[in-house]
Formats: sequence, structure tokens, C-alpha cells
Amino acid sequence: MRLNSPQINLITRACMKASRSLIRDFGEIENLQVSTKGPGDFVTSADKRTEKIIIDELQKAHPDYGIVTEETGIINKSNLDNRWIIDPIDGTMNFLNGIPQFAISIAYEENDEVKCGVIFNPIMNEMFCAEKGNGSYLNNSRIRVSNKKNIKDSLIVTGGPNGSSKIKDKIFSEYINVSKSVSNIRKLGSAALDVAYVACGRFDGYWQRELNYWDIAAGIIILKEAGGFVEFFDEDKNLPLVKNILATNANIHDELRGLLNKKDIE
Ligand code: IPD
Ligand code: CA
Ligand code: CA
Repeated sequence: MRLNSPQINLITRACMKASRSLIRDFGEIENLQVSTKGPGDFVTSADKRTEKIIIDELQKAHPDYGIVTEETGIINKSNLDNRWIIDPIDGTMNFLNGIPQFAISIAYEENDEVKCGVIFNPIMNEMFCAEKGNGSYLNNSRIRVSNKKNIKDSLIVTGGPNGSSKIKDKIFSEYINVSKSVSNIRKLGSAALDVAYVACGRFDGYWQRELNYWDIAAGIIILKEAGGFVEFFDEDKNLPLVKNILATNANIHDELRGLLNKKDIE
């Protein structure tokens, strides 16, 4: 791998360390699924455990950096110059059901711009990572987005709506709309991996509403460095951590955007 900033080295190390306990926890899920208690509480503690390992590792090196995480919230709020964005397990529902489609996602940001990121599926042993200006990698191989030119031949991935969504009808109508114009649509249950899969050409495009920033922060740089295009739409200035994302191989971007029920995309 040719990525070598101190930050990428640090997040890769934190990711590897956290993944060891995550792999052990995933092994436990099968037993818990057949027990009467079920794996619910266990998953919550696996989430917290993983996040703590990552935070401890990152704070050892930079106690003053800002951190935005799913479980703990915001640490060192005033530091926007240097921030880590962490989702300890993206794809919790899959994890809970023993489906190996989940990942640790960590990004590093300077002044609101993501500089590097790692998305690691510890069960498949697939690490996607990128650093600004130095390309995107899957393990040791350079990755690129697909070269698909026509939306009608494209395989698209999406997610949602979440159980609590108030715009389910809108999301389903969008799904129907897109599905009429593309080759097919998948829903795999991990936003971080969805973006990473566009970055390595497994999918040609991805869109999803009502995400949280930590779901896709690392994905932004991984996709851009792989030649893809990321855009946020229908943004709510009062909710800066909530994101509606459109992420594609660039060729099909405008066409896919045209199929969404967006308010406006500049
Ligand atoms: C979820 C996953 C899922 C997406 C949800 C997210 P979590 O994150 O990324 O694919 O559809 O909107 O909340 O809860 O598994 O970390
Ligand atoms: Ca998530
Ligand atoms: Ca999560």
C-alpha cells in the first residue's frame, strides 16, 4: 500500500486492533441467536467495546483532536481543525443477524474536508482505504470505479428507509422510479460498504437519504480517490450530521440524480 500519512497509519492500526475483539464478538452471535435472551444487548456492548478501543488508540496519539462517533457523541467539540469521524459497526442489523456484511469506518478530517479514511470488513478481511491525492486501495490493490456509461446497464445500491423514517413513501417512490431505469438495485445494509463497493466497481452508483455523517465520512474520500463522484442533496443546515448522498462512478451521476425526488441539487 502506498498510503503513508501519520493519520492513515493511525486509523489503520486502530481499526486492526478493534477488529480483533469484533471478530470474537461476531463468533458469539451464532450462540446468542439460538438462546432465549437473543443477541440485542450483546450487540450494543460490542458496539461500545469496539468504539472504545478505537477512541483510546486515537487519543493516545492526539488527545486534543475532535471526535464524532455514533456511540459516544462529540468529543473536543471546539476542535474542527482535526477531527476523527467514527462508526464502530456500520451494518449493525447484519451483525446482529450473523450476516458478515458490516464494517468499521473511520475518517480523518481537517477543516471540514475528509483527508483520509478506512472502511474495514473484518470478516471478509477487506480493508478499503484512501488518502487525499494518493489513490484508493482494497487491501494492497489500487481500486477504480466502474466504467459503466449507461444508467440502464447499471447495478445500483441503496438503503433505508429506517424504521423511524417519516418519509418512507417518498423513499419507496424514489426506489420504484430508479428501478425502472437501471439494470437492478441491491440493498446490503451497510452504507459504508455500499460506498466502498462503488469505489471498487462492484456497484455503479449508490444513493440514500437520512444517513448520519459517520456512516459515509470515510466513504467520501475512498470514492473520490477511486475516481467517483459524491454529492449531498436536500441538505438541512440545522442538521449538519444528517446526509442524503448520491455517490457514483461519475459517468451515470447526472442521470441517477435526475431520477431522485430531490428538492434541488445545485
Ligand atoms: C446503518 C447502516 C444502514 C443504513 C442505516 C444506517 P448502523 O448504520 O449504514 O445501511 O441503511 O441508515 O443507520 O446503524 O448499522 O451503524
Ligand atoms: Ca452506521
Ligand atoms: Ca453503527
